Amino acid sequence: MAQKSILVTGGTGLVGAYVVGMLQARGERPVIFDVAVNERLLRAVGVDPASVETVRGDILDLPQLVSAIRDHDVGQVIHLAAFLGEEVQRRPYTGVRLNLMGTVNVLEAVRLENVPRLTFPSSGTVYLGSFAEGLQSIDETIPINPPSVYAATKGGCEFLGNAYAKMYGFEFVCIRYVGGLYGPSPTTMKATREQAIQDMIRAALKGEDATVNWPYGPTEVLYGKDAATATVLAALKPDHKDRLFHIGCAGMVTGDDILAALKKEFPESRVTLKKGSDPMAYPANRPLTDLSRASEQLGFEAEYTLDKALGDYAETMRKLEGL
Ligand SMILES: NC(=O)c1ccc[n+]([C@@H]2O[C@H](COP(=O)([O-])OP(=O)(O)OC[C@H]3O[C@@H](n4cnc5c(N)ncnc54)[C@H](O)[C@@H]3O)[C@@H](O)[C@H]2O)c1
Repeated sequence: MAQKSILVTGGTGLVGAYVVGMLQARGERPVIFDVAVNERLLRAVGVDPASVETVRGDILDLPQLVSAIRDHDVGQVIHLAAFLGEEVQRRPYTGVRLNLMGTVNVLEAVRLENVPRLTFPSSGTVYLGSFAEGLQSIDETIPINPPSVYAATKGGCEFLGNAYAKMYGFEFVCIRYVGGLYGPSPTTMKATREQAIQDMIRAALKGEDATVNWPYGPTEVLYGKDAATATVLAALKPDHKDRLFHIGCAGMVTGDDILAALKKEFPESRVTLKKGSDPMAYPANRPLTDLSRASEQLGFEAEYTLDKALGDYAETMRKLEGL
């Protein structure tokens, strides 16, 4: 019997492109489902676009999702397509429609076609409103309290996914990426902080003088490749004890940490930071996220420290933009 495939919605986004490559490397059969197929990013992360079955499709189009699952004999779905935080904050109605209704369509397609597992990436932003006095760390048992429209869409998808899975008997595996997710995607809809990291790297690659706006406080960050590794581990694990995991890279980083890592990779770099007061209302006493469940149950540890990530990021940007 032919091998069942794994449908990856948003399969040519930042996480998706890595996920597709990692699935191929493990002998799996990924199928990309993306509304704007980005072949350049696939190539830059080492995936030959011609080697992947691809559907140019919209998650808002339920019949198209159902057809893709039928036509490609899909055995599980990894649902990554979404608007990211700042785009949802800019266009809340459109963002809610895409993130919530798009996910409801994926859930409907999964249950109509009897797909046994759906893996979904949520975000650490869902618990930004949950910090109580004296809380030392945040684990997966803490009730979520999403403070933004974006976080509410991700939290809403978590609730809907769990309810659909219970009602229709499939597995809903949720991984919450914690912190700013950075990497070489060309999307213009990135968060400003992640865009600033990309601006630093591009300027260093071009050998340009640049002053990059960095009005942010210490923050958790996660390299896209690490997010993808965790996603693949969660999707391919045969049996799960728990179905909710925090995925992060332990500790906080500052703009100066990022600049120092950049200088190691590009000693001649003339990039500087323009700092200011932190416009993002992160609580000053923000507890760190407990990452032990993913470590114990998925065997996931982030591999990309800042130094390693910036080297890999720059190499991929070279390929992506011919720098
Ligand atoms: N980037 C972050 O900081 C972050 C943090 C936590 C969680 N997440 C979640 O991780 C997932 C992947 O994020 P990413 O950084 O790879 O995003 P990305 O923007 O790089 O990729 C998203 C992909 O989805 C595709 N897409 C958009 N609308 C679509 C539609 N209607 N139908 C089909 N495809 C569509 C885009 O073309 C793109 O290829 C998202 O669900 C996001 O909410 C991201």
